[in-house]
Amino acid sequence: SLSKRLLIISNRLPTVIAQNEDGWSMKPGSGGLVTALAPIMRKNHGVWIGWPGCGDDAPLDKLLREFKDQQGYQLVPVPLSEEEVELYYRGFSNAAIWPMFHDLLGFCRFELPHWQAYNAVNQKFAAAIAEQAVPDDFVWVHDYQLMLVGAHLRDMGQQDRLAFFLHIPFPSPDLFRRLPWKIELIKGLLAYDQLGFQTLRDRRNFVQTATLLVPEVEVVSRKRHHTLLQWGDRIIKVGHYPISIDFTEFDQGARSHEVEDAAWYLHENLRGRQLVLGVDRLDYTKGIPERFLAFERALEKYPELIGRISLLQVVVPSRTLVPDYANLKEQLDQLAGRINARFGKPEWLPILYVFRCLERVQLLARYRTSEIALITPLRDGMNLVAKEYCASSVENNGVLILSEFAGAADQLGKHALLVNPYDTDGTADAIYQAFTMEPEERRQHMMHLRSDIRRNDVHRWLRRFVESADGDN
Ligand code: UDP
Ligand code: G6P
Repeated sequence: SLSKRLLIISNRLPTVIAQNEDGWSMKPGSGGLVTALAPIMRKNHGVWIGWPGCGDDAPLDKLLREFKDQQGYQLVPVPLSEEEVELYYRGFSNAAIWPMFHDLLGFCRFELPHWQAYNAVNQKFAAAIAEQAVPDDFVWVHDYQLMLVGAHLRDMGQQDRLAFFLHIPFPSPDLFRRLPWKIELIKGLLAYDQLGFQTLRDRRNFVQTATLLVPEVEVVSRKRHHTLLQWGDRIIKVGHYPISIDFTEFDQGARSHEVEDAAWYLHENLRGRQLVLGVDRLDYTKGIPERFLAFERALEKYPELIGRISLLQVVVPSRTLVPDYANLKEQLDQLAGRINARFGKPEWLPILYVFRCLERVQLLARYRTSEIALITPLRDGMNLVAKEYCASSVENNGVLILSEFAGAADQLGKHALLVNPYDTDGTADAIYQAFTMEPEERRQHMMHLRSDIRRNDVHRWLRRFVESADGDN
């Protein structure tokens, strides 16, 4: 356990509060940030500050008390108005920063009111932190929605150490320059004492951007795990810390009888074929249409796959009120429909596509039983689904096909089939290669993947980040 109290701040609290016929309920939130940080908080306790994501009518105090009793850590809500959600969350965070940081400039909308709301909401989060934090807390702000929180805390006179971790990629200086508020944003990030990124590439992009846009920033030293920057009289430590999962949670979970039964049932209904699994939030960064097209190309190029392979694509609804996300849903429905009409037979469909959030048991059953995982984001900070698939592949018979543009490729690339998701033919070939891979080769690769993820789990990630704050590592 940590010696300091952890104060985690993220846009969203790790629970989705919703009302159904039986009253109010709390379910775990989706997305990699929650998957990674929730086990850390259960183990180390502490306080999590964030937006509860529900209307004013929810009995919030009661629900949050229940949460604390069940999970062992405290949630502090930062309520947002509908206007704040529209401008700060759907607007600046998800229609400017999100696409830009994933190298998709064409999706970006830069609007002054969005930027202003982003600033104001970041200040609101800073005020909530100021109210909770006591000296000696480890104050740790997370992700792209809250990059200016540190600067606002400084304006409020906060002198203590502040840390930040970015879960998504950091773009090249050339892309970052397109942002109308580039100087304010990069200076805002430099208000933290410790900045964490997913990969070495993200860390380099940040260092290059900061030194380019703020000429007074100097590189003091460069080591394997971090770069020290100096700006005026302040030193800023910039490191890369690839995030991970609680390996044991997935490994043990996948071995449970419930999961075994669910997995058996799944495969029994889809007998005689290999399952290719895709699991993603509905997001244009995930390369799902490109994946459908590559799967189609594989069926064209390798007709022996017809009837013997199915793509099981789970799409978790996400950010449905952001226009580009709604468009993507339509595009996927059409593509899956067209490909299924072209190749499907009464007893076999090439693409089995579900649009919903899965219960943990159902997710683990799919991980455990699918012979192939097809994970092809156009760009991704890490991609925890890739790690979860391996951790749940307890029979060592799965093949991981992974985009070279996912942060996870740095770590898992040696024992995965790496693909460029923009290369339809190359991805189709990888699907065929995975389909025909012998059990012994599968086993070798999967054992390496699993032991790597087991060793580098999220608890180690936390220790590395926190120890790096004080020490020289
Ligand atoms: N996930 C989920 N519900 C589902 C399917 C998946 O919550 O029905 C989780 C999945 O287990 C993973 C996360 O969503 O932890 C996705 O994380 P990833 O890093 O792959 O991508 P992100 O959504 O953060 O971009
Ligand atoms: C990604 C982001 C998280 C975000 C999650 C879900 O994992 O890195 O910050 O919470 O997606 O997205 P949402 O917009 O629903 O919070």
